[in-house]
Formats: sequence, structure tokens, C-alpha cells
Amino acid sequence: MSSVTVIYRSPFETAICSSDAAINIDNPRYPPQIRGMPEDLEGVVATSTRLSHVDGEAGRLTIAGYALEDLAPYASFEEVAYLLLHGRLPEPAERVRFTQDLAGRRALSRLVLEVLHEAAATQARPIDALRMAAALLSLGREESPGDDAMTAIASFPTIVGAYWRALNGQEPVPVRSDLPHAAHYLHQVFGAEPSTERARALATYLNTVCDHGLNASTFAARVIVSTRSDLISAITGAVGALKGPLHGGAPGPALDMVFEIGTPERAESVIRAKLDRGERLMGFGHRIYRVRDPRADVLARAAERFYASGGDQRLYDLAQQVEATALRLLRERKPERRLETNVEFYTALLLHGLGFPSELFTPTFAVGRVLGWSAHCLEQLRDGRLIRPQSAYIGPTGLHYDRGPARPAV
Ligand code: ACO
Repeated sequence: MSSVTVIYRSPFETAICSSDAAINIDNPRYPPQIRGMPEDLEGVVATSTRLSHVDGEAGRLTIAGYALEDLAPYASFEEVAYLLLHGRLPEPAERVRFTQDLAGRRALSRLVLEVLHEAAATQARPIDALRMAAALLSLGREESPGDDAMTAIASFPTIVGAYWRALNGQEPVPVRSDLPHAAHYLHQVFGAEPSTERARALATYLNTVCDHGLNASTFAARVIVSTRSDLISAITGAVGALKGPLHGGAPGPALDMVFEIGTPERAESVIRAKLDRGERLMGFGHRIYRVRDPRADVLARAAERFYASGGDQRLYDLAQQVEATALRLLRERKPERRLETNVEFYTALLLHGLGFPSELFTPTFAVGRVLGWSAHCLEQLRDGRLIRPQSAYIGPTGLHYDRGPARPAV
């Protein structure tokens, strides 16, 4: 059997596999595996970034140079936002100006509020309402990508809060510009100024999920903006990508599983039954991590602290037992695939402890991730080219289309 060379070139990487003869990657007759290209882009480097680095083997996440665990639990969201948008942490005066600028963009236009009310009347899911409202953020104004980024980051908490209240027949809470970003989000949703502990726990969460390499929604955003489309369009598309259950839609079902299990002794039978039915355990497994997701550690510690200071400690203990049982059974079922806890498992626990209903878990993820989407879009606009990969055509060729004598031309 003769061996072949597969040459795959991306703007950033060239990989050459073994061979006697080169295959032209433009030749559509070669299926993707022969052309050395995984169908779902697994392992493919599609861009370069200064924003975050995911080391899936070591289980490390670096945010613009800082280890996640050193940054997320201690920095304010505003500091992390400045870091991702400007490439370094702010000086004190810069931090004040940036915080004021962000806070000054929190209010929603009358039209956005009207759309949210209409959406609430149809009981639209909060993540869908967020997608609709996000698209309207550019209405009636021509802004620069940098302004769009700031407006989107500042508006997302207000949109989610106003929508949740509308869904529950409540008026939106007047916007406050004196609260930090995380506290402002809690205020918008619950209508009361949060304790320092609650605001800190939420800031830790938002910092933890703000960026994560070239995940599906970030890739979607970069593809959209790579056409030189606007940043608000890119962010709207990213919300659509995030909401799928294999990406940002997992924490609700993860928490449902913990509640369904109810007591530690039921963990084994319930999880076995799920795996027997071929179900995936939400909150476990990851495309990149082959060890425990470092974000799960940061959030588990935040949740532990939070639950110890007045939350439902029994629920936290149950979740830990569910996690241990799930990991044991996944190892038993899939010894060849390293399936570990991902960020969504402890997201569910922390956000539930903060009082968020599960319908707001994915929108809250978006409140954090809109920062990463924005920063990636700005980076793409600055450094990138049109993202336009190829597909391998594997359908038939040479079929004959019979017009038929009696068919009128259209
Ligand atoms: N539970 C049970 N089995 C699983 C799980 C899981 N959570 N995850 C993967 N597997 C199994 C698959 O069924 C598959 O088995 P098979 O080879 O017998 O068909 C094998 O492991 C490989 O699965 P893939 O889908 O190829 O793995 P991939 O890297 O594409 O999936 C993903 C990653 C989508 C996250 C997957 O692990 C999953 O569905 N997890 C549950 C959903 C979840 O928690 N999503 C949140 C991810 S984190 C984030 O996006 C923020």
C-alpha cells in the first residue's frame, strides 16, 4: 500500500504528515480523514490570540498572562474587562475612568425594553430574549467596534435582569451606575443591593467564564466579524452558538441531575440508568480538557465558601458525592476517554446558591462571555483575515437533470 502526504496549511501553522505523494487539499474527492483534517476541526489551530490559553493536558487556563486561579477570585470584573480589551491591567486612574464609562452604558433604549416586554408575553426563553435584544443594541447609532464592545458588555446584565422581571410581571429596576458590574447584575435581577459576599462570588464566576480560547461561540463571533461585519452582529450570533446544550446550555440539566438524585445513596443507580439509556452526563467531558477543567476548581472553591457562609450545605455535599460517583462511572464506562468535571457542574451549584433560577444560567454565562467575544472581535478586526475554510465534497457527481418537455421555465 502506498503512503501519501497530506499537507494542511493554516495561516499560522503548517503540518506535514508522512508520505510518498502529495495530495492537493483542493481535490474534493478526498474525504477529510485522508486529507488529515478532522471534520469538526478538533485539534486544528484556526487563529492566534493574546487573550487566553487553554492547556487541555495540564488543565491550565491563562487569561492574558495570568493564571485563572490567581485572577478570577480576586480581581473585579472591570479589571478583567480592561485586561482583555487593552492587553494589561489598568492603572488606578484608568480603572476609575473605565468603570465609569462602562457604568454609563447600562441603560436600555425604549425599543429594547418594548421588545423584551413583547418577548415576555410569548414566554420566550431568557437566552432567546437576550439574543433578540442583543441584536437591537446597534439600532439607531453608528459606533466604533470599541464602543460596541463596551455597550454590549455593559448592557447584557440590564437586558437579562429586565427580561427576567418582565417574565415575572415585575417592572425593571432603575439602572444604578454606582454599583460594580457584578453587584449591578444582581441588583437588576433581584431588585436589592447584594451583600459583598454575593457580589464577590458572582464576580468570580464572571471572571472565570469571560474567555476560553477558541470555543464554539467565540469562533462563531470571529467568523462573523472576519467578514468585516459589525461587532453587534457577531455577538448576536455568538449568543445563538452559546445556547446549545453541548456548549453553554449544560448547567441547568447538571443541577436537575443533582436534584433528581436527591440523596447520596441514589447517585449510583440514577447515573447508571442515565448511562444505560445512552444519555450524556451534563457538566462532564470537554473537547479540550483531558483532566479536570481548572474553572471547575475555581468555582467549586467559590461555591464551597459561599455555601459554608449560609447556603444549603447539604446540597453542596450532595453535589460533591454526585460528582465523585459520576466520575467513577464514566471511567468504568469509557476507560479509553478521559471524561472529567467541566465548568458547568459547579456553575450550576454556585449560581443556584446565588439565587439564580436555572433559566438564567446560560444568560449569566453570556453576561461573562460577552467580554471574551468582544475582545476576540476586536483582535480579529485588528489582526485577522476573512475566515473561510473549505469543505470536502462527498456527494454524488455527474447526475443528469432531466428538464422534461412539459415543464415551463421559471
Ligand atoms: N457523558 C457521557 N458520555 C460522554 C460525555 C458525557 N458528559 N461526554 C462525552 N461522552 C462520550 C460520548 O458519548 C462519546 O462516546 P462514544 O465514542 O461511545 O460515542 C465519547 O465520550 C466522545 O464524545 P465526543 O462527543 O466525541 O466528545 P467531544 O469532545 O466532542 O465532546 C462535549 C465534548 C460536547 C462537551 C461532551 O463531553 C458532552 O456532551 N458533555 C456534556 C455536555 C456538557 O457538559 N457541555 C458543557 C461543556 S463546557 C462548555 O462548553 C462551557
